[in-house]
Amino acid sequence: MTEAQPLVLSTPHAAAGAPSGRVIAKALRDNAILVFPPEAFEEDVVRRSFFGRQQIILNRAAGIHHILVENTENYRRTPATMRMLRPLLGNGLLLSQGEDWKHQRRTVAPAFAARTMPLLARHVARATEATVAGLAGSAERHVDLLTAMQSLALEIAGNSMFSLAMERYRPELRDLITGYTAGLGRPSLLDFLLPLAIPSPRDLARRRVRRRWVGLIGRIIAERREKASAEAPRDLFDLLSTARDPETGALFSAEGLVDQIATLIAAGHETTGVALFWSLWLVAAAPDVQERLAAEGERLDLGPDNAAEVLPKLVYTRAVVQEALRLYPPAFTIVRLAKHADDAGGIQVPAGAIVFIAPWVLHRHRRLWVQPEVFDPARFLPGTPPPDRFAYLPFGVGPRVCVGAQFALTEATLVLATMIKAFRIERADDDPVMPVGIVTTQPDHPPLFLLQPRR
Ligand code: HEM
Repeated sequence: MTEAQPLVLSTPHAAAGAPSGRVIAKALRDNAILVFPPEAFEEDVVRRSFFGRQQIILNRAAGIHHILVENTENYRRTPATMRMLRPLLGNGLLLSQGEDWKHQRRTVAPAFAARTMPLLARHVARATEATVAGLAGSAERHVDLLTAMQSLALEIAGNSMFSLAMERYRPELRDLITGYTAGLGRPSLLDFLLPLAIPSPRDLARRRVRRRWVGLIGRIIAERREKASAEAPRDLFDLLSTARDPETGALFSAEGLVDQIATLIAAGHETTGVALFWSLWLVAAAPDVQERLAAEGERLDLGPDNAAEVLPKLVYTRAVVQEALRLYPPAFTIVRLAKHADDAGGIQVPAGAIVFIAPWVLHRHRRLWVQPEVFDPARFLPGTPPPDRFAYLPFGVGPRVCVGAQFALTEATLVLATMIKAFRIERADDDPVMPVGIVTTQPDHPPLFLLQPRR
């Protein structure tokens, strides 16, 4: 038998050197992955100037620890991030700050604790079975797995967090999110330059999107309220709508509840959907990995009643998911604005500097990984030395680490195992697929796949 050839990926990046502010702003609008120059993948720190502000691309562990774990009070979300995400996420968990954030985090986090994973696994398995049955029964020869995985992730988010089938809302919800990320969600030059208090021209148009989005989430909440029961809390909706501030005893306001639910639906499915897409895309190009995945799933019952018990046995599948999150991290960068000047692990950060801690860069850094461009799930198998804690950050780190990380890993592992158990998956063509950073790491087009049922 011949040895399988390793799958080697390309790493799109900016041109080397010091680009002008306009060139950086254009990259941030069109494809934010292209703001990172080749030297960022070799060095600890890259500095450049952006309209009088310093931008720092930071790869040094001590500096990352300082900013994301130790001195978080000094580092805030940037005005551009707020402008881009606020129309969809409002003042929910992801964008809130200070005391407000602490209260929201305390309220939301228990719903995503390890003990709730068995319940979640059941929802995931049930929704995935339905998707697999739909794909198997479809007359389409060529399948768009990006759309299929985004739809499945949305269904899982709706079922597991809010006990709702999302079918009725899916077209409008997906249409709104994809339309927004392709258009007004992209930052203009003024989005970077104007203080947050002064609306940019795009902010005015974003208000219209916000009104439509709030209306849609309001309808979802209204449907869920009709299903309310007087019994013990059933799901995240019950927890959120009855959660009281420990100090004031106040409930979430109606507006606050909309923002929380909007955040969890949007952040909870868009990222996991693309993670699943990239996992399947990689596996379709690496038949040896795919066969090993199929062999792992073959002997296991992945159905809803057994999903929680089977998870620890999906060791190879989980390693494939982790490797896909390394190569195509859905959150390609974490960005912070420094309030005051600071020393971050020996790196001088001036007041007002914008710091990029970028999984896209860290995960492909030549000094942090052996053969970073090779797809090799074995890096994450038990017995292999784990990556440096600050070299692998698909979910961030510190107090603002992703609240849904366990949820996302559980979901991605079960869905990948079930898909590969059901189908042999191949790419329908050899056209290159390029990653594009717009809010999340998307493919530049939805490639088509051939699905052949395994039995
Ligand atoms: C593969 C899937 C996912 C990835 C790669 C991902 C990535 C991230 C990252 C990197 C952060 C930290 C951002 C920062 O520090 O600025 C974050 C925060 C967050 N994520 Fe995720 N996420 C995923 C899935 C989910 C899911 C399933 C949910 C909810 C159900 C979720 C909800 C959130 C929320 C609410 C925050 C803000 C937490 C806070 O600020 O306290 N994410 N995510």
